[in-house]
Amino acid sequence: MDKTTKLIVERLGSDAQRFSGKTVLLAGGAGFLGKHFLSVFQKLNESVLDAPCSVISVDNYITGSRYFDDKITHDPNITQVWADVTHPLPIRTDIDFIIHGAGIASPVYYMRYPLETIESAVHGTRNLLELAARNPKLEGFLFFSSSEIYGDPDPRAIPIKETYFGNVSTVGPRACYDESKRLGETLCTIFHEQKNVPTKIVRPFNVFGPGMGHNDRRVIPMFAYQALNARAIPVHGTGQQTRTFCYISDAIYGFLLTLLKGKSGEAYNIGNPENEITMLQLAEMFPRLVDGASFHTVDYPSTYPAGEPNRRCPDISKATEAFGYEFQVSVEDGLARFIDWAKTEPAYLD
Ligand SMILES: NC(=O)c1ccc[n+]([C@@H]2O[C@H](COP(=O)([O-])OP(=O)(O)OC[C@H]3O[C@@H](n4cnc5c(N)ncnc54)[C@H](O)[C@@H]3O)[C@@H](O)[C@H]2O)c1
Repeated sequence: MDKTTKLIVERLGSDAQRFSGKTVLLAGGAGFLGKHFLSVFQKLNESVLDAPCSVISVDNYITGSRYFDDKITHDPNITQVWADVTHPLPIRTDIDFIIHGAGIASPVYYMRYPLETIESAVHGTRNLLELAARNPKLEGFLFFSSSEIYGDPDPRAIPIKETYFGNVSTVGPRACYDESKRLGETLCTIFHEQKNVPTKIVRPFNVFGPGMGHNDRRVIPMFAYQALNARAIPVHGTGQQTRTFCYISDAIYGFLLTLLKGKSGEAYNIGNPENEITMLQLAEMFPRLVDGASFHTVDYPSTYPAGEPNRRCPDISKATEAFGYEFQVSVEDGLARFIDWAKTEPAYLD
């Protein structure tokens, strides 16, 4: 993760000084994205900021892991707190930035915890927005929505712009995630309009990279775990469904730019619009990276929610025009970096 963090910090350049001497509340700090945020703040404290940034990281560990890099654990400016954002947080310190990444992100887990999924996106967002409204000096509130709010888009709407309203079922198996993220966005909009909270919404499109748990059940770690253990990669359905994948360094850089430079009250797609690939094409990349890797198509397992979108590809021009967001890492390159990391992780090897 060190290389990834270094890359993000370099790309942030002088914009990072906006965090100097500030306090950040990070919800979901034990998750995949949360841990990368913590690594970036630790690195900024170690070698970039004029004055360190205090980070209060909260998580209830429903899916997050308690393992943190030593550097994060030993940074006196980073505090880890067990807390559930569905209850009001008893924080009295002045806060300058709030990043709300607490949620249940992986389809297998949101099927298992549908009510918790809704509560983190709705009550959790409301609680954090109330806290934001009590902090008049707050400079930014970043809400993690999702590309899933677009549902299964009309092919004419691809690549998807932020203005596309989405095609989402209220009663389908994915509704707990999609609809609660949509309502979370609505809450942000109301708090921006009525209480002047500087909300910025990001809609990430399939982020991947080092730090994803072997049991995360999202597609890239799942394929990697099977391949590294010499088991055929199971490609769900026909394998013709497409996704674009955004490497973690490009994603975290884009999220932080959105927080620092996005317009309040607005939503931004963050992803990599190139290389929209089918899941079969993704599986075909593995034999080039893992000796002996193979794949086959299988029926969707019962633990996986039906109604998977057929296509997913962002239009990122709004973020590019607003604050110069660009991606740098191709899916092949990112996958090679991810596999190199996973090969060194004992949890990825049975
Ligand atoms: N990673 C992606 O590709 C992606 C794509 C779209 C949206 N998102 C959204 O971004 C956010 C972060 O994603 P991630 O990949 O890090 O997910 P993750 O599942 O790895 O991490 C989320 C963290 O939130 C914690 N959490 C859940 N409910 C909580 C609660 N009530 N109180 C406190 N903590 C709670 C979990 O324990 C976990 O550590 C999520 O909201 C997710 O829906 C991520």
